[in-house]
Amino acid sequence: MSARPGPATLRRIVELACRAPSVHNTQPWLWRVTGSRLDLYADPTRQLVVADRDGRNLTISCGAALHHAQVAAGALGLQAYVRRLPVAGNPRHLASLELTPRRRSSHAEAELRALERRSTDRRRFTAWPMTEERLTALAGSASTWAVHVTPVTDVATRVRLELLVSRAMALQDADPRLTAEQQRWIDHSPVDGIPSSAVRSGCGRRLRASRFDHPVPAEPEEPMQSTDGVLLLSTDADDPAAWLRTGEALSALWLRATTEGLSVVPLSQVVEVAETRSVLHHDLLGGRVVPQALLRIGWQEIGRSEFPRTPRRPVDDVILR
Ligand SMILES: Cc1cc2nc3c(=O)[nH]c(=O)nc-3n(C[C@H](O)[C@H](O)[C@H](O)COP(=O)(O)O)c2cc1C
Repeated sequence: MSARPGPATLRRIVELACRAPSVHNTQPWLWRVTGSRLDLYADPTRQLVVADRDGRNLTISCGAALHHAQVAAGALGLQAYVRRLPVAGNPRHLASLELTPRRRSSHAEAELRALERRSTDRRRFTAWPMTEERLTALAGSASTWAVHVTPVTDVATRVRLELLVSRAMALQDADPRLTAEQQRWIDHSPVDGIPSSAVRSGCGRRLRASRFDHPVPAEPEEPMQSTDGVLLLSTDADDPAAWLRTGEALSALWLRATTEGLSVVPLSQVVEVAETRSVLHHDLLGGRVVPQALLRIGWQEIGRSEFPRTPRRPVDDVILR
């Protein structure tokens, strides 16, 4: 059993938590370290004010960091007792984690490796198909966060979803404020934003499908290939608590996918554009649950080079004093 966590261990947890995915690599989080407690805050100065007016993607990103922190704590021999939105009336204070010693997780090495290796690899997937069983197992790994993770496998729904994604992309492309905001986060700084190399590494239409449209393809491809696995994350409510949990579920399934050698690429446009989100919610999901995230899942070629890492802010910049 390990001893009470010292400041260096808490700092290491924050560092690993900040490896989490975030929309446009905005890293919209701040942390406070108090004894053996970590507090997570949203950083509204990093919100995408055009594409993410409600702060939904911001909160999902923070939820992913919250889950990363829990995994990091477990791998370092600590149990995290989490309170979400612990202070009524302070929606920026997203979570509080009390850390106590426990036996180091038996998968500690694999978990630490997954935290370090996970990335958004936008390169074209191989045509090796995603089986429904594998998608369902992946979905199951995220089911403990009160988030519905649904494999989209039937052809009719997939076709309708593809049309909606294309519609969302077209609407976003036609909005100069939105495209300007996206551009600002490409090569934003040495410590945040998406390096143009990671943007260019995608291909044609599929790159557009992953939000960015450089270069414009000669022959547009479909937003999703028939061999891609597709997962939809949805929740019963549509509020910061649901968004935070969506981020935790997203992180859980992404880390599991990483361990299995699978690639995950979010397709956020369809849930960012009010019109397409509403059609998805009411027509495709029958109004029962609220769509929060859409993911493409697939295999990268075996033996392919490691994908270049996106940068992160120095840990001192995200720890409040
Ligand atoms: C809520 C959320 C939405 C995202 N939406 C997209 C997207 O639409 N297209 C895309 O290519 N990547 C998307 N990403 C991935 C981020 O761009 C990526 O996590 C970030 O650039 C950091 O890179 P990394 O995941 O390689 O560490 C999204 C990530 C999150 C958490």
